[in-house]
Amino acid sequence: MAPVNIHDFRDLARRRLPKIFFDYIDGGSFEEETMRANRSDFARFGLRQTVLSEVRQQDLSTVYLGRRHPLPFMLGPVGFLGLYSGRGEEKAVRAAHAAGIPFCLSTFSIASLADLRAVTGGPLHFQLYVLEDRSLSEAFLATAEQAGVDTLFVTVDTAITGIRERDVRNGFRSLTRVTPGLLARLALKPRWLVDVAMRGMPSVRAIEHRPDFGRGALEQAASLSRRIDKTLSWKDIAWLRERWAGKLIVKGVLAPEDAVAARNLGCDGVVISNHGGRQLDGASSTIGALPAIRAAVGPDFCLMLDGGIRRGTDILKAVGLGADGVMLGRAYAYGLAAAGEAGVAEVIAILTREVSISLVLMGIASIDELKAAGSAAVQHKGGGA
Ligand SMILES: Cc1cc2nc3c(=O)[nH]c(=O)nc-3n(C[C@H](O)[C@H](O)[C@H](O)COP(=O)(O)O)c2cc1C
Repeated sequence: MAPVNIHDFRDLARRRLPKIFFDYIDGGSFEEETMRANRSDFARFGLRQTVLSEVRQQDLSTVYLGRRHPLPFMLGPVGFLGLYSGRGEEKAVRAAHAAGIPFCLSTFSIASLADLRAVTGGPLHFQLYVLEDRSLSEAFLATAEQAGVDTLFVTVDTAITGIRERDVRNGFRSLTRVTPGLLARLALKPRWLVDVAMRGMPSVRAIEHRPDFGRGALEQAASLSRRIDKTLSWKDIAWLRERWAGKLIVKGVLAPEDAVAARNLGCDGVVISNHGGRQLDGASSTIGALPAIRAAVGPDFCLMLDGGIRRGTDILKAVGLGADGVMLGRAYAYGLAAAGEAGVAEVIAILTREVSISLVLMGIASIDELKAAGSAAVQHKGGGA
């Protein structure tokens, strides 16, 4: 049956992907409490219904990251897309740009920025993990400049990788090459095998020239994670701010004082994120953290939000509570794994439809009107009129 919503795409992805990769996408750290809270805390907020407001023309466009975009959401950085579908990064960027929305390429990608440049003339965004080896970070920045990246997201919530127990059980981190045992498990999903692995195990293009990171995406993933700089501090963000002329966004902020620090250092915005519940288990949900962060930074500083976005109504709640825009993670990764580029396009279409219908039923004509209405339109269920 054709998928009707994002949950259906998740089910399809589970059927299409080898378990080791589905679990890698789907899982969170330890009890997965924060991952669940990202979803369940959306239910703490309600959308205000008003009727007979004669909405004739709807406008879903809005401004985030310094530009007007046709939709209030974009595709955020998700590692190893090319392992879930052959040329996965290229498929995702094409689907995003066809809808006029940004796509952000993860440091941990099979495709390089040059590979994306070959398939799109649209704006490119890049997510940077700062590694202990600063010369490599410098090289990433130079490559990003050459590719014409205008927005850099620096991810700061991964000083150490959280333990995701599904990955431990599946041996995701310890499998550094394709053993006969792994091959047997991968062969259970022949369509995936033909699509992704027929030409050998894909590798991370950005570090292909560095044999010390190992060979093949699995081994490279393990060594990249180990080499993320554990001592990253605000001094490094100040250095990046001086070094990077384009827009700089700090990804992985949950505390108001951290958002204020980023603003005071001249960053262009932050992503309110707990890495999809994959890092500090017990951390606040992102939707729960948003109102206090907006109050602390004031109305003009760009706040993006990700975590648990599976419905158009989640997007409306985030925007009404003060996010300038929203970023998708697993939602589009499921679409990609399930049905390639068409799957990502369908995920974008489903969420667009849900946003559009719900906005009409709220009696609101545009995303900008929703932003202006703010807490009059999205209310905490515990109180309010
Ligand atoms: C499989 C997977 C890989 C990810 N890889 C990265 C990454 O390379 N860089 C990064 O900044 N965030 C990464 N993230 C985090 C996402 O950017 C985002 O914060 C998170 O997925 C949002 O939660 P959601 O998936 O519930 O929407 C990854 C998330 C997933 C699920």
